[in-house]
Amino acid sequence: MKLKQAIELDRKDSLKNYKSHFLNSKKEIYLNGNSLGKLPIKSIKKIRKTIDYEWGDRLVRSWNEKWLDLSDNLEKKLAKILGAKKREVKIGDSTSINLYQIVFSLLKSNLYKKSLISDSFNFPSDNYIIEGISSNFNIKNPTIINYSQDISAEINLIEKAIKKSPGILCLSLVSYKSGWMYPLKKLNDYAKKNNSIIVWDLSHAVGATHIDLKKTNTLAAVGCSYKFLNGGPGAPGFLFVDNSIQSKLENPIKGWFGHKLPFKFFDKYEAANNINKFDIGTPGVLSMVGMEAGLDIITKATTKSIRKKSISQSEYFISLINQELDSYNVKIESPRDPLNRGSHVTISHAESWKICRTLAKGSKKFPKIICDYRPDKYIRFGISPLYTSFQDLYHAINALIEILKTESYKKIKKGENRVT
Ligand SMILES: Cc1ncc(COP(=O)(O)O)c(C=O)c1O
Repeated sequence: MKLKQAIELDRKDSLKNYKSHFLNSKKEIYLNGNSLGKLPIKSIKKIRKTIDYEWGDRLVRSWNEKWLDLSDNLEKKLAKILGAKKREVKIGDSTSINLYQIVFSLLKSNLYKKSLISDSFNFPSDNYIIEGISSNFNIKNPTIINYSQDISAEINLIEKAIKKSPGILCLSLVSYKSGWMYPLKKLNDYAKKNNSIIVWDLSHAVGATHIDLKKTNTLAAVGCSYKFLNGGPGAPGFLFVDNSIQSKLENPIKGWFGHKLPFKFFDKYEAANNINKFDIGTPGVLSMVGMEAGLDIITKATTKSIRKKSISQSEYFISLINQELDSYNVKIESPRDPLNRGSHVTISHAESWKICRTLAKGSKKFPKIICDYRPDKYIRFGISPLYTSFQDLYHAINALIEILKTESYKKIKKGENRVT
């Protein structure tokens, strides 16, 4: 393993200058942008201006002067990133709420049979939500597809489940554990042929992969903006509903912001006749303001270039794991084919949690490496092509070699793990 090679790869990297758009620490290597993305420097100024001037000085007048147009402006930007039309994307509320809105409205619409399907690769919250909704529609329980292993989904099992109970599916485009990425168009087309729809959770894909919702015939999706979109902690989630089905869907949560004329304060609810019907209540202005700079950076860098770099970095990282960690009982738990992989690489080891903690502490031999642990044996390394360098990946492998060789992870005492 040669540092020279990583330096050379960084030198040739066409996106290398984008790191300077983010706040970086010289003391640590951050490989957790798949959980919470870094802070774009422009967001600091934007949020400060919102606090000092718009909130501090203009107060309520800022709604008319700026805040009421915020979501529209962000939605246009995000729609471009997703390959959607501008009135097909709604930003606001959390991913969990957005998923609730879409799945509930699809069930109520009678566009599809009342069947709910998900899989064991989906984010647990998504499965909790669809399970919760199923009781409202007398659906016994969602079908949860289980696979024979944790790395890649078996497409034939998904197709079988659709054939058996056509209806509504919910899948995460990139799985939070292994980073497995589904063939988006292939499954959308299969679902359509079988009178079904897939609601895609794009949380782990958006901002680090190239997504074209139109070209892949996607009809509905949700996602987070605090991961690879770098929107900030608790930044609003988003939903996408294709124009072809929008008019047939009704928001199950009827709040005043989804009204056709919210500021007329009519007694009777009348839904907006566009994507704004999925609004609910007053938007979180500070969180929305924090999203804009991240979207602008991605638009400038382009998702095609970001995806290209992500693949070359994950290939590099996996090759180093194979080359250097083979004798330490480390297993790669991500798909080997980059076309079936998102932008994080997962490994497993019997002492994963302790290793993860040791990486985060750093030592005289290596800098702090921030990545995350997922029960019961996984460590995820997030590759954020806008700010991850090949040298970062090299140093992470170096640190792993050191920790595994010396077994320094044994010094970590058992404790509660709350986030990473
Ligand atoms: C894939 C995925 N879906 C949904 C969620 C839930 O998002 P939220 O907590 O913003 O509702 C997360 C959170 O990390 C996630 O990773």
